[in-house]
Amino acid sequence: MSKERIHIFDTTLRDGEQVPGCKLNTEQKLLIAKRLDHLGVDVIEAGFPISSPGDFNSVKEISKLVQNATVCGLTRANRKDIEAAAEALKPAKRPRIHTGIGTSDSHIKHKFRSNQEEILERATAAVSYAKKYVEDVEFYAEDAGRTSNEYLARVCEAVIKSGATVLNIPDTTGYCLPHEYGNKIRFLKENVKGIDDVIISCHCHNDLGMATANALSGVLNGARQVECTINGIGERAGNTSLEEIVMILKQHDHLNYTTGVDSTLLTDTSKMVADNMGMFVQANKAIVGTNAFAHSSGIHQDGFIKNRETYEIIAPEDVGVNQSQIILTARSGRAALAYRAKLIGYELTKLQLDQVYKQFLSFADAKKEVLEDDLHRIMEMSREQYGIKMI
Ligand code: KIV
Ligand code: ZN
Repeated sequence: MSKERIHIFDTTLRDGEQVPGCKLNTEQKLLIAKRLDHLGVDVIEAGFPISSPGDFNSVKEISKLVQNATVCGLTRANRKDIEAAAEALKPAKRPRIHTGIGTSDSHIKHKFRSNQEEILERATAAVSYAKKYVEDVEFYAEDAGRTSNEYLARVCEAVIKSGATVLNIPDTTGYCLPHEYGNKIRFLKENVKGIDDVIISCHCHNDLGMATANALSGVLNGARQVECTINGIGERAGNTSLEEIVMILKQHDHLNYTTGVDSTLLTDTSKMVADNMGMFVQANKAIVGTNAFAHSSGIHQDGFIKNRETYEIIAPEDVGVNQSQIILTARSGRAALAYRAKLIGYELTKLQLDQVYKQFLSFADAKKEVLEDDLHRIMEMSREQYGIKMI
């Protein structure tokens, strides 16, 4: 059975870049856009053109540069924003305007001091206006996560009639539980006329640590685009992380989904974005953290050395990591010590291993990690005493 394509919409340069301290200049944005295009994402959200002349210029330059992906610009639901986006996107081979408005009671009442009927009109007017400039118009219903399903369905049906090609259902505040978000997508699939002619998109925030789980739940219930960022950066606690959603879909082959992303470029891309944004990745971050392929407890190390798959569900080379690491600490066992000693040229008999292990532990207890130089020193101190052979 052929796999269904899940479109990857990268918003590192828009939702990611709006994070304090992550601001990029045009040159950096171009570098990242080029890399994202090479990585194989389907859509690059390049920025919010009306927000500043710098962002306008970046979207324009990215539009000239990108060869394969659709280039998208964000707008609010008004003519000036849409005109600015249309202008900035003019050089793009595949331009998309991403327009929308808040649809939850809270947004309608407090942000817009409006009512549902007026918001519905503004939404359709924005989509119709954007359609004058580009064929591909994505509509976002901001705070869809806290919008009643019935009203959301009315808005979606109306914007489809106005020509929207993609419907973005953002869980803007990261509040939804995965099954709730999935049910919302299913509800739209079952209750909106014309829904099968458009792509439903998940845009999930990570305020409760559920952004990736929610996006996956959206996909399992009918969404075919995921909005995400490299390293999961984005407003507040961030967005669905691109590397996580891509690898979930890849590793769970039985789900029968595929993406256009070349997963072997994920680690390098993560580093490049982190370096340019000055936003470093936590060591235990799934897929791209420095500990993602590091084994440090004796039990895990022993299992891993016997067979990698006992403790690894992803082959490191599949995400561009050279090899997994066996970290030596006071929690490491003999198997790890023998393995690492062999890597630097020392072959230990069982008796020699017992002898060196005692010395190793007293050293390791005094340090967080026993590094390669430390190991050399331990082995050299023991070599003559125990008659250890070099390989
Ligand atoms: O989180 C959100 O709702 C957004 C929209 C502007 C798409 O980022
Ligand atoms: Zn967002």
